[in-house]
Amino acid sequence: MKKTLFTAIILLPLLSACSEGNSSSATQTQVQEIANEVSVNREVDMAKVARGSRLYQMNCAECHGSVGQGAPNWRERDADGMFPPPPLNGTGHAWHHPKRMLHYVIANGSPGGQGKMPAWGDKLNDEEIDAIIEWFISRWPDQVYAAWHQMDRRRGQGG
Ligand code: HEC
Repeated sequence: MKKTLFTAIILLPLLSACSEGNSSSATQTQVQEIANEVSVNREVDMAKVARGSRLYQMNCAECHGSVGQGAPNWRERDADGMFPPPPLNGTGHAWHHPKRMLHYVIANGSPGGQGKMPAWGDKLNDEEIDAIIEWFISRWPDQVYAAWHQMDRRRGQGG
């Protein structure tokens, strides 16, 4: 009895978004279906992605890798005590940040100047930075994108 109640509480917010949701038949399969629904709904602006790809290769690839793979040892501080360039392809932690924060880091560089990420705000305009973000997000696997998209929306900032 207790377990059923617990399950219902956990599933309620998910199911309230689904008109066919029925808590008595709520199963793992349904949760997975909801996740899949989110993950396939990817809005990709191909022209923006193409533009972002070019800008990325020109400005970012030398550090973050030609396909956003980052430095192999990105989790370990280097000899200067700073972190190497992390991956932007969905295998790092860039997806933990809402789009607004990704934009902020790219424009302003490492927080408080305490790292080796340069500031791009005076070389790239907002539109160019957004195109680069669009490019690397387009490379994230569906599940990573789905998790990021939900977090980004919860924080009330879609882009
Ligand atoms: C000189 C090397 C270098 C270049 C060039 C560079 N970056 Fe970085 N970037 C870094 C480093 C190092 C970090 C980690 C910073 C830290 O630990 O403070 C970083 C961090 C980031 C982060 C935060 C990632 C996270 O997981 O929190 C983003 C986003 C990012 N860079 C995007 C870009 C983009 C977009 C460009 C091109 C416009 C770019 N970077 C160019 C070195 C670079």
